[in-house]
Amino acid sequence: VIHYPYLSLRRSVEKWSFYWKGPSLIQASYDAAHGKPFILDAPGRRHTLVSTKQHIKDLDNAPKDVLSLQAAAKIMLQPKYTMHSFNWPDKKGLDGAPLTRTLRAFLRHDLGRILPKTRVRNEILLRNMVEESQGRPSISHVFHTLVASTHSLAFFSDDLVNDTEFMDAALDFIFRVIYIAEPLNLLPEFLQPMIGTLVGWMCPSQKVMFDKVRALAQIRLDEREQASRGIKGPEHRDCLQWVIEQTHKLRPWSADKVDPWSAERVTHEMIALWFGAMHSVTSTLNYVIQDLCLHSEYVTPLRMELESAAFKAFEATGEGLPLLESFIKESQRMNPLDLVGTRRLALKPFTFSGGHQVNAGEWVCTPLTPMLKDSAKWAQPNEFNGFRHVSSEILDSLKDRHVYGSIQAERPLPITDIREWQTWGTGKMACPGRFYASAMMKQILGLIITDYDCTMENVNQNRNFSWRTVYIPTTPCITLKQRAH
Ligand code: HEM
Repeated sequence: VIHYPYLSLRRSVEKWSFYWKGPSLIQASYDAAHGKPFILDAPGRRHTLVSTKQHIKDLDNAPKDVLSLQAAAKIMLQPKYTMHSFNWPDKKGLDGAPLTRTLRAFLRHDLGRILPKTRVRNEILLRNMVEESQGRPSISHVFHTLVASTHSLAFFSDDLVNDTEFMDAALDFIFRVIYIAEPLNLLPEFLQPMIGTLVGWMCPSQKVMFDKVRALAQIRLDEREQASRGIKGPEHRDCLQWVIEQTHKLRPWSADKVDPWSAERVTHEMIALWFGAMHSVTSTLNYVIQDLCLHSEYVTPLRMELESAAFKAFEATGEGLPLLESFIKESQRMNPLDLVGTRRLALKPFTFSGGHQVNAGEWVCTPLTPMLKDSAKWAQPNEFNGFRHVSSEILDSLKDRHVYGSIQAERPLPITDIREWQTWGTGKMACPGRFYASAMMKQILGLIITDYDCTMENVNQNRNFSWRTVYIPTTPCITLKQRAH
């Protein structure tokens, strides 16, 4: 009895220390668990972490209303207050999943049309930003601008990219989501509605974004309705249109509710997509450019690849450029965006093979960071080896082959292949935007690598800090100097 207050205080301190000691706690528990599921407690959140093939398969096969990505994301992002009152369903597919097909099929197969357009536009934007800043642009601003311009075209054709009010709000919005959601998560639940509503009002960018996209969605719905009466309007090839089309094809076997989506519902989906698509791509690019500055021996072969016929083939399909792909993949391995992957919230109790039980209200995830640096899988796991993910044939064809390390596997898997590669999540729920994301990252990096020499000041600066289960990248100071051809 005497010990109880002390032990309870100690347990509470341990839980809170998860906020800033996450990486070392997860690594130590992963090492000690030897493949078994293990538990980590944070304030108000118990996590079960699983890492074996079988347990990850269990997680993937769990019914959607038992382990839910949507419910986990709703707690993390608080869309009710950060995304103009969006209250997405906890169960995926309740009113259809038009976005998955849009990204995985339509957008992916349209890359050959989109990439040449975004290259021309991004080349101009990049040149202007470098000139205006005399070679010292904020690299974070550069990536945000180029990625926003690319998404705008892919999501809304040319309809919003020249609307500066929309573009400014869309950039502001992605920071506000994090600034609002994270503090809200620290508050007791009963205070969240009041504070969330108040803070949401003080951040008008979500409303600007919502209003602009909603107006466009309504135009598209009206055009569709007119077309059904034989009045032909313009044709659109972008995510907004594909999502609308998909929601008109919902059937009872693909969704519980099959009514076509309203302009509001489509808009909510598009602004949530905007957040996810911006944040992950810009953060990844931020790390890749730092790795390029730190490992300049890779610049020459990357330039040769980008200036070869391989570039044209890449632009026609969105696939290829194996050296650049390997470099990005290695940067993702060394700098994952999250400490953990494949987050799910248990809506009902769940039992893994072997008997480990998870209660409703607890979280399940994979220990992403330790898995990406596990010496049982990766040779010299803490070494950056930019070409470890290419085939021996490609590596041997390089002029200074001896400069680079060894390959990881004779038949390397493409960056978008999710087998034993958790950075895009897991199985059926894995990121459907990964084909588009990897293509656009290659294009943006290609523009920088071919036209500029990059150098980083403060090479010893911390590249990120962790907060709970996420890594937050710091902004490096990078100079871009026009390359002498
Ligand atoms: C480097 C960039 C990106 C990374 C690392 C990334 C990573 C992820 C991860 C880890 C998940 C969760 C999957 C799971 O838990 O199993 C996810 C989901 C998702 N991502 Fe990405 N993503 C990226 C870019 C994008 C882009 C550009 C788009 C859209 C164009 C996108 C659209 C989505 C969507 C819609 C989901 C939710 C899938 C669902 O609900 O089933 N992502 N992504």
